[in-house]
Amino acid sequence: MKITIIGCGNMGLIYARAFLKYNIVTKENLLLVEKSEVRKLELLKLNVGEVTVPNDAKIADSDIIIVAVKPQDFQALAVELKPILQSAKCIISIMAGMKISCIENALGNPNIIRAMPNSPAELGMGMTAFTANTTIPIKQIRKAENVLNTTGRSLYLDNEKLLDAVTALSGSGPAYFFYIVKHMIEAGRQMGFDEATASLFVKQTMLGAFHLINNGNKSLDELIKAVASKGGTTEAALSVFNSTAVGENIQKGIIKARDRSIELSK
Ligand SMILES: NC(=O)c1ccc[n+]([C@@H]2O[C@H](COP(=O)([O-])OP(=O)(O)OC[C@H]3O[C@@H](n4cnc5c(N)ncnc54)[C@H](OP(=O)(O)O)[C@@H]3O)[C@@H](O)[C@H]2O)c1
Repeated sequence: MKITIIGCGNMGLIYARAFLKYNIVTKENLLLVEKSEVRKLELLKLNVGEVTVPNDAKIADSDIIIVAVKPQDFQALAVELKPILQSAKCIISIMAGMKISCIENALGNPNIIRAMPNSPAELGMGMTAFTANTTIPIKQIRKAENVLNTTGRSLYLDNEKLLDAVTALSGSGPAYFFYIVKHMIEAGRQMGFDEATASLFVKQTMLGAFHLINNGNKSLDELIKAVASKGGTTEAALSVFNSTAVGENIQKGIIKARDRSIELSK
């Protein structure tokens, strides 16, 4: 297999490392396309693949080409890439909010897969949703799925429109979790713990609670009920959350993120 990654910033490098870790590709068959000289030198030092430029004809031989530049950099890049990518077999875009039709038009190639990963991909614990243009054969989709799965789990969606909801749910999701953890640690500090101690209590609690959700056999309501006894401490906290509509506001926030994703992709 030969892979090219165009744009080797945070996400591009995460993919390069994941591909090498799972032996999807060898360093010799991994092309990394970067713009800035500084970043090129950094990538050369990291020794994760061959570093090259957008108009390198070798890119056209790749089985999979991943586009991981920021959406605002894509149109200018597409002008350079178009002659090389016109006959490419499979192009995976991870650019947030960039529709398949837009990429297809800019590159003159219909073989586009659009994926939305999230930041835990860095640890191989990411969640990616992806969808593909109808022209792409199932064999190519499977190949792309294997590649995406090096960073965690992935799920194919038929409906491209749902990628806006994915962006709001799992794309931005890590930030919601960090926000809740941050406020729990702050509450610990207000009750007299230093940052490190409060952080230990909260992080281990979130880790354990996550495993109860993922590996236990109780529903979320049953899990809440099991901790919140009548008239007890948990119920006191939950009554504040309910009376200030914390749950509803979390839902509203996520739906607002979905709407913003729709707006940005116009
Ligand atoms: N970070 C996330 O959690 C996340 C999650 C889902 C999707 N995404 C998507 O992933 C993409 C990359 O995000 P990121 O966080 O990795 O951004 P990033 O760190 O800024 O990486 C983008 C890289 O592309 C390079 N680049 C820009 N124009 C180029 C060109 N013409 N040719 C070659 N390289 C070029 C940039 O170089 P310069 O810095 O020199 O411009 C930079 O190194 C974005 O489209 C984003 O929407 C990110």
